[in-house]
Amino acid sequence: MRANRAAFEQLGLRPRMGVTRGAPSLGTTVLGTEISMPLLLSPVGFTRLLHRDGDVAGARAADAAGTLFTLSTMSGHAMEDVATAAGRPQWFQLYFVGGRPGAELLIDRARAAGFRVLVVTLDTQITGLRERDIGNGLYGLTKVTSRNVVRFAPQFVPHPPWLLDFARDGFRLEIANTSHLHPGGRPFALHEALTSMATHPPTWEDLAWVCQRWPGPVVAKGVLNGEDAKRAVECGVAALVVSNHGGRQLDGVPATLPALIEVLDSVGHEVEVLVDGGVRRGSDIARAVALGARAVMAGRAWAYALAGGGRAGVSRILEMFRVDLDRTLRLLGCDSVASLDRSYLTIPAWDR
Ligand SMILES: Cc1cc2nc3c(=O)[nH]c(=O)nc-3n(C[C@H](O)[C@H](O)[C@H](O)COP(=O)(O)O)c2cc1C
Repeated sequence: MRANRAAFEQLGLRPRMGVTRGAPSLGTTVLGTEISMPLLLSPVGFTRLLHRDGDVAGARAADAAGTLFTLSTMSGHAMEDVATAAGRPQWFQLYFVGGRPGAELLIDRARAAGFRVLVVTLDTQITGLRERDIGNGLYGLTKVTSRNVVRFAPQFVPHPPWLLDFARDGFRLEIANTSHLHPGGRPFALHEALTSMATHPPTWEDLAWVCQRWPGPVVAKGVLNGEDAKRAVECGVAALVVSNHGGRQLDGVPATLPALIEVLDSVGHEVEVLVDGGVRRGSDIARAVALGARAVMAGRAWAYALAGGGRAGVSRILEMFRVDLDRTLRLLGCDSVASLDRSYLTIPAWDR
């Protein structure tokens, strides 16, 4: 996680003077869809715990800002509710909860709900060792029992607005999209869904199968090197997200910006390549796009904004990204996102 940020900070900017005139053009396209700036929202599981409007708020804010939202399989909201919240088709992120049969049901449901792009996350063979989640008792928070009320009281009591929000939502903790996958006919709890995913992580054969089954573009998320990028492209994906899951999976893997260079060298002429991990400012968007990314995605940025202010919070953070990207381009002396290239950067050696 720290390495992702450090890489952005090490990537220097190389401005041109005396050339900027009016407002730069920030729009671009991703997989044929026009977006207002090259920033999409990454899938973040169970945002309903951050704010009761969760992914519905995220999708509405992204849509209002003219960009795209990616809904996690692990959402607290049913995918149909999120799909209808946004004005145009969004992206759905697939985990193999329940193996291939489960994936098949999720794919068919996502298609019927109107999602256009399917994002297959490859880096979650098992969840990483998230020591803060263990310390905070996240995996014990599966339902509201009197034992849990006592156990979590020291965390809940200092946060009355959050507790009120959670209570108004009816203390909802289930993974809504898994309602039709559980043998008992009820949605999985978080820890059950994580266990089920870990039993059936997708292989390359599974990715190729998804590409056959999904009628629209498929995106592979979690690729960190050129060989895997080639394998994914052979399977039929239309785009890749270079991602280390925001540093939440295998500690010690490369930061995403150096990995982006390797992936672009390998398949950049064949498919669109996006990147996420550590995107916090508009200038980060400019850096990644200048390096060659089609667009960036951000996870924590919108999740924290949601926790702080619901839908208005997510809209605010998207506006901050837009304003900062605009300012960065003017200061770089670059009139559009489309004109950004490596001549605007000083690229460190990064051990390649
Ligand atoms: C709380 C949290 C939950 C996440 N849940 C998912 C998920 O369900 N599916 C997925 O593909 N990625 C998930 N991610 C990873 C994000 O999609 C993204 O790769 C990462 O957050 C990017 O790094 P950033 O947070 O520094 O922007 C999650 C990340 C966070 C912080």
